[in-house]
Amino acid sequence: MIKIIFVCLGNICRSPLAEAICQHKIKKKGLEGQISCDSAGTANYHIGEEPDSRSIEVAVKHNIPIDHKGRQFHHTDGTNYQYILAMDESNYRNIIHELGYKHDGLYLMRNFDSQGRGMEVPDPYYGGKDGFEDVYQILDRSIEEFLEFVIETNHL
Ligand code: 4NP
Repeated sequence: MIKIIFVCLGNICRSPLAEAICQHKIKKKGLEGQISCDSAGTANYHIGEEPDSRSIEVAVKHNIPIDHKGRQFHHTDGTNYQYILAMDESNYRNIIHELGYKHDGLYLMRNFDSQGRGMEVPDPYYGGKDGFEDVYQILDRSIEEFLEFVIETNHL
C-alpha cells in the first residue's frame, strides 16, 4: 500500500480537505487497494477536532465526503508514509524539523500545480469563504497531477 499524508498547520482547513479530495480521486481511479491517504498538522492546537465548518461546506458543495479528526504530525510519520505533501513553506520547514532529516518523498503540494508551480496553498483560516473555494480549486488541480505522478512512479 502506498501511503500519502497531507500536512498543514492546524489540520482543520487545508490538509483535511486535501485528504478528502485525494480519497475521492483514489476511489474514482479504482486504486483504493493500492493508495491510501491521511492528514496531520504541525501544530497541536486542534487535536481531535472536526475540520473547519468552511472546509466541510466547500467539500459538500463539490460532493466530496470529508471525515477527519485533527492530529499532530509526528516524526514516526516519516517511516509510515512514502509521500508527505506540505501545504506551504513553513509547514515544509516544520516537517523537516520534526523528522530531523529530509524525507525522500517530501514535496510542496503546489510543485504539482500547473497554474502556480512551487507556490504555497494559502492559509484560508483568517479569511472568508472565497478563500476556501480557492484552496479547493488549487488542491483539486495539484492532487490530480500528484496522483498521476504516484501512479507512473510506482507503475500502478
Ligand atoms: P490549516 O489552517 O493549517 O489549513 O488547518 C489553520 C487552522 C488553524 C490555525 C491556523 C491555520 N490556527 O492558528 O488556529
